[in-house]
Amino acid sequence: MAFMMICLLAAGALSACSTKASSDGTITMRLAHNQSETHPVHKSLTEFARLTEEKTNGEVKIQLYPNGQLGAEREVIELTQTGAVDLSKVSASALESFSEVYSLFSLPYLFDGRDHYYRVMNSSTVNGIYESTEEIGFRGLTFYDGGSRNFYTKNKPIMHPDDLNGMKIRVQPSATSIRMIELMGGSPTPMSFGEVYTALQQGVIDGSENNETALTDNNHGEVAKEYSYSEHAMVPDILIMNQAKWDVLNEEQKQAINEAARESSAFHKVVWEEAIEKSIEDSKEKGVTFSTPDKEPFQKAVRPLHKEFAEKVSTAEYYKEIREAAEKE
Ligand code: GCU
Repeated sequence: MAFMMICLLAAGALSACSTKASSDGTITMRLAHNQSETHPVHKSLTEFARLTEEKTNGEVKIQLYPNGQLGAEREVIELTQTGAVDLSKVSASALESFSEVYSLFSLPYLFDGRDHYYRVMNSSTVNGIYESTEEIGFRGLTFYDGGSRNFYTKNKPIMHPDDLNGMKIRVQPSATSIRMIELMGGSPTPMSFGEVYTALQQGVIDGSENNETALTDNNHGEVAKEYSYSEHAMVPDILIMNQAKWDVLNEEQKQAINEAARESSAFHKVVWEEAIEKSIEDSKEKGVTFSTPDKEPFQKAVRPLHKEFAEKVSTAEYYKEIREAAEKE
């Protein structure tokens, strides 16, 4: 740990610390993320590491650094940009302050449902987004399903946007998420994920919004007992990689990593479904109540945001493609 911190802090030596090329030509890369080892995302990233090693015949190895030990998402994106960390898994919402195009994924009700979401996430539209950040130092490799995001509070179900009135709701540090809560009538409180449990417990916030694993893997369900399915967003997790580290790989290695990324995303789809079922079951046992509000008033409240995204230069084209994909099938 001490070695790691020295590595990360010594600015001049940043790159040298992260990727280790040994004398036999093997490359070892570091991958950071903020979930625990029991979280489905960690399992899928472990699968990504295994597949990468297998498909490169052991030439590329990946070491995982879970639990936010290398920093909160904002920090690890910066570390991935400079190359101090080779890869990281972060929420698409956290990427919004680095590249505006990622704000799309925080747009409430962008997706009509899981089919639409998967169709778009596996399409060339999203590949274009992954490559659009090359110039700022990183590229996207794949996504991991982050389910739907819903409101949860200590003791009050959110059945209508009016219920958010006067409530401090934690959001990710994302301008779009902040606007969403404002439009719905609540008071947005941006903070990093690792701070949410204590903030809930101490009453700094009244509620938050996330998928069901936050209740169990992050223990928020110990404090928050009301979970309401507004299903206002489906924000994917994105696996990003330092661009310079990518550029030095040979074509076979790049192809192997791309395949490993894609296959681990498909693996995740299955692991995710099982994890959500289990999270709901465990949360119910711990006294969490699940409610299903009518989504229409929530959708109506955020309509102005859709208009903005359809017009903004950075998102207009992608927005159009994504919404058109909803009409197909
Ligand atoms: C999800 C996501 C995390 C993110 C978190 C958050 O759990 O998978 O990457 O940090 O939401 O709300 O901050």
